[in-house]
Amino acid sequence: MLSFAATFGLMTFTSVAVAQTPSSLARASRPEPSNLGSFVQDRAATIALGKALFWDMRVGSDAKTACASCHFHAGADPRSKNQLSRGPNGTSFAFGGPNYQLKAGDFPFHQFSDPNNRDSAVVRSLAAVSSSQGVFRENFSSVVPGQAEDNRQVVYDPVFHVGAVNTRQVEPRNTPSVINAVFNLRNFWDGRAQTIFNGVNPWGKRDTGARVYKNESTWSLFGWKQQVRSVQITLNDSSLASQASGPPLSDLEMSAAGRRFADLGRKMSSLRPLAGQQVAADDSVLASRRAANGDGLATASYADMVKTAFRSEWWNGSQTVTVGGRSYNQMEANFSLFFGLALQMYQATLVSDQTPFDKFAEGQGSVLTPQQLTGWGVFQGKGKCVNCHGGAAFTNASIHRRLFTDRLNRMVMGNGGVAVYDEGFYNIGVTPTAQDVGVGGNDPFGNPLSFAGLAKKSILLFNIYEQALLDDLVTPFTRIAVQGSFKTPGLRNVELTAPYFHNGGTATLTQVVEFYNRGGNFARANIADLDADIQPLGLTSDEKSALVAFLKALTDDRVRKHAAPFDHPQLAVPNGHSGNTSSVANDGWGRAVDDWMLLPAIGRNGYAADQIPASFLGLAQ
Ligand code: HEC
Ligand code: HEC
Repeated sequence: MLSFAATFGLMTFTSVAVAQTPSSLARASRPEPSNLGSFVQDRAATIALGKALFWDMRVGSDAKTACASCHFHAGADPRSKNQLSRGPNGTSFAFGGPNYQLKAGDFPFHQFSDPNNRDSAVVRSLAAVSSSQGVFRENFSSVVPGQAEDNRQVVYDPVFHVGAVNTRQVEPRNTPSVINAVFNLRNFWDGRAQTIFNGVNPWGKRDTGARVYKNESTWSLFGWKQQVRSVQITLNDSSLASQASGPPLSDLEMSAAGRRFADLGRKMSSLRPLAGQQVAADDSVLASRRAANGDGLATASYADMVKTAFRSEWWNGSQTVTVGGRSYNQMEANFSLFFGLALQMYQATLVSDQTPFDKFAEGQGSVLTPQQLTGWGVFQGKGKCVNCHGGAAFTNASIHRRLFTDRLNRMVMGNGGVAVYDEGFYNIGVTPTAQDVGVGGNDPFGNPLSFAGLAKKSILLFNIYEQALLDDLVTPFTRIAVQGSFKTPGLRNVELTAPYFHNGGTATLTQVVEFYNRGGNFARANIADLDADIQPLGLTSDEKSALVAFLKALTDDRVRKHAAPFDHPQLAVPNGHSGNTSSVANDGWGRAVDDWMLLPAIGRNGYAADQIPASFLGLAQ
């Protein structure tokens, strides 16, 4: 939060501690890679492809799991049955277990006898995580063009099971919203989805082996000829594309273990987009492509959509390429590139900039109630919220702070002394630091995820991986504060996205405000990395209610109603398993039978009031 000295190059200057006042998102620039035109030839077609892929259940190996399955309401996940993860020690569930139905009384996971006093007795402390159910534990064997499900085998799951029957696995961190995620410099709670997209996976420049395939004219002794060659690519401002290349291969989220992106490409390129899912006649993106009877799109296959959207040198090669010992055509081999960019361009349209706050920030003073105005004052003053939730995106982890003076910052720590940290990532004492180290972790190549840790290890690596200059002096002896730090979420629509925090351990906005008011859950235990703003705030009950009221001024009504650009095709979502934590029905293959929640297809005007999906546990915020 507080920056008082920044050093770069030979220049040292002192900057005053100014938090960026939140402003209208409608006026904020939307990031986009500068070389997009080298890949995309038709923007509208790319957005349509991204929307179809985001909502298509056949992206999952089981043909039942879309991106949207975990991001279908306000960009997040309001389900509450079979949403409990196994917890940080890897094997035991803190309470409940697989297929548990969460209850309002289970929250907050860390509970004090006086919620406004962190020195009061701890009533309970559950090292649990509530998140999203993904796929069953299975191994991949093959895809068959034209077939919706991958061929795969069920593997007994030692963790997610009831009796001898597997249940859907649950993610280890709570699901954040995809809405406004385009403004995150890096995505995921620990920022691991790199700002630079390499066309293949989430690791950007850190994966020096990442290659895509380009069909180029090359000169040889025999004259010019077309040849498919592997090339390295760099797309800036593309954390969403980096992010999107992760889930389709994750054996927790969407995939049977061992699937390759090219396998997914082979399957999807053969299928008619969204076949089996209804599309509304007035869908804001897909209407013109919709099949006459409303069942999916009229376009013959995803291959056709790719050909319209992307430049031909990325898909028209006649030679096959070998990926991991198997042979694929160029379009299949480049599917991670198309998928990442299409998903990024679709999600870049999911911007909620019509909240009462945005109107207020544009000068329409009367849209906020007097109580909300009081809350706005607390947000910027006594509550200190603005120190971390600053700027148009309500987070310092915003791409608007990518300029070279902003990636690193210094602060005075809770236990004295100064440390360097990643802008926008803070340890606020939600869980004990060691339980989940967040941006303090490493990438698969053994390098620190954090900018601060990477620079401490090697300034050269930082320069190469981030394609940015270091903006602060970091030496191998610099104290850094990154352990247990998480990306600060933007706060728009937070009324609709319970449960909260990276562990999903807080169910209401009142509980969130009480958390800050008492000065966190694990302030003393986390003191070595804790942000110094996490201290008892001494808010009155009127100030707390006003803060909650202000947070509700951040809801965009289009998000609540699923109106354009948040409208979408029909979706069936697995919603726990028939039965309970001690008994489930076997589908005949060793998997529990799913219960389903059905979201009707909806067009640009959104749902009627009585059709809006229930929010988390039906809690009114
Ligand atoms: C099984 C549930 C599940 C599925 C399926 C899923 N996600 Fe997520 N998503 C999550 C969880 C959990 C996280 C947070 C993970 C973390 O930060 O470690 C997340 C994070 C994200 C984020 C980062 C948001 C932020 O603020 O950091 C984006 C964007 C996103 N998902 C988009 C997608 C896309 C696109 C797909 C499909 C390709 C997808 N998700 C599929 C559960 C899911
Ligand atoms: C020191 C920086 C900091 C300050 C000060 C701060 N926040 Fe946060 N906020 C964060 C971070 C980081 C997270 C995510 C932490 C985690 O999950 O471990 C977060 C999470 C949240 C969430 C949960 C959002 C979600 O989607 O899960 C809400 C709501 C929130 N903050 C509101 C506030 C309010 C209101 C205040 C002022 C009383 C405030 N914050 C002060 C950094 C801060």
